[in-house]
Amino acid sequence: MNVYQLVKPLLFGLPAETAHDAVHAGLRFSQGTPIADALRSRYRVDDDRLRVEAFGQQFDNPVGVAAGFDKNAQLPEMLSSLGFGHVEVGGVTADPQSGNLRPRMFRLREDEGIINRMGLNNHGADVVGERLAATDTDVPVGVNLAKTEHVAIDDAPEDYRYTYEQVADGGDFFVVNVSCPNSEGFRDLQNRDSMEAILTTLQDAGASPLLVKLSPDLPDPAVEDALDLVNELGLDGVIATNTTTDRPDTLRSHNRAEEGGLSGKPIEPRATQMVRFVAERVDVPVVGVGGVFTAEDAYRKLRAGAHVVQLYTGLVYRGPSIARDINEGLLDLLERDGFDSVEDAVGADLE
Ligand SMILES: Cc1cc2nc3c(=O)[nH]c(=O)nc-3n(C[C@H](O)[C@H](O)[C@H](O)COP(=O)(O)O)c2cc1C
Repeated sequence: MNVYQLVKPLLFGLPAETAHDAVHAGLRFSQGTPIADALRSRYRVDDDRLRVEAFGQQFDNPVGVAAGFDKNAQLPEMLSSLGFGHVEVGGVTADPQSGNLRPRMFRLREDEGIINRMGLNNHGADVVGERLAATDTDVPVGVNLAKTEHVAIDDAPEDYRYTYEQVADGGDFFVVNVSCPNSEGFRDLQNRDSMEAILTTLQDAGASPLLVKLSPDLPDPAVEDALDLVNELGLDGVIATNTTTDRPDTLRSHNRAEEGGLSGKPIEPRATQMVRFVAERVDVPVVGVGGVFTAEDAYRKLRAGAHVVQLYTGLVYRGPSIARDINEGLLDLLERDGFDSVEDAVGADLE
C-alpha cells in the first residue's frame, strides 16, 4: 500500500480547494529539504529513452505538470523532485487577482474528474516574475500567460505583453492561454483577430518559444483558423487542451451540474482527438493535456502526435507517484511495441 492510499481519504474528506491548499503547503514545506531529496530518488526515472526535445527545450521525460497546479511558481523544484519532466506555472495575469468566490473547485469522484471555476486567481506578474527569477530548477519551466479580468479585449495585447516582460527572465517557454472558460468573455480571445494581435505583440516583445493553448470546445473550423495562425506566425507549439464546459452524458457525480471547466478522465477522449487533429495540421510540437492518469493514457497522446504530455487532475486522484508510474509504464510500452524511445513513438498513429 502506498502512502497516498492512506492520505487520500483524509484529503478527499476536505473541500477540494482546502485539500489542494494543504498539499501545496506540504510541498512548499518539503522543498529544498532532505524530504525532497528522498522523494527525488524515489520518483525520478532516469532513462535516455524517455528524453524528448521539443521547441528548443530538453525534457528528461515527457510528463509535465499542467497550468493551474502551481499558479504562483512556488513549486517547480519540488515538482521536479516528484519526477515531472517540466512544469507549466500560472496562469499569471498582469495584476494580482483573487478569482471567483469559493467554493470554486469540485471533485467528480465517480468520474475521476474536477470542475473548476477558479477565475485565474494568482499573485500577479510582478510577484511571480520575481519568484521565477530566484528559482533554480533543473527542468524546463513554462509560464502560462492570461488576460487580467478587468482589461478589455482590445487592450489584451498590451496586458499580455506586460505580464510576459515580468516573467521573461525566469521562464523557459511561454504559453498564451486564450482558452480558460472561467473568465467572462475570455475565450472570445480565440477568434483569429484577437489571437493574432496578442501573439504578434508577444513575438515583438521577444517571447520565445511561444505556444498557444486551445480549448476542447472550439469547433473544428475555429481550430483550423487558429492553426493557420500558428503556421503563419511561426509559433513554436500548441497545447491541446484546456478544460471543457461540455458535460459528457456519462458523468455520474452529483457535482456534474457545477459551473466551470471539466478536467480529468471524462475529457481524455476529446483531448486526445484534438491532439491528433492539431498534429495532423501543424509541423510544430504538440503538448497533449487532458485526462492523463496512466502510462496508457500518456502513450495514446504521444502516438496521436504529442511530443510531451501534461496533467493536473491525475495528480489529485493518483497522488505523487503518478509521474514515476507513467514513466516506468511508458518504458514497458515502448519495449512491447518495439520503439527505441519516446521520440520514436511520437505520432506513430498518424497517417
Ligand atoms: C483547478 C484547476 C485550475 C486550472 N488553471 C489553469 C490555468 O490557470 N491556466 C490554464 O491554461 N489551464 C488551467 N487549468 C487546466 C489544466 O492546465 C489542464 O489543461 C486541464 O485540467 C486538463 O488536464 P487534466 O485532465 O490533466 O487536469 C486548470 C485546471 C484545474 C483543474
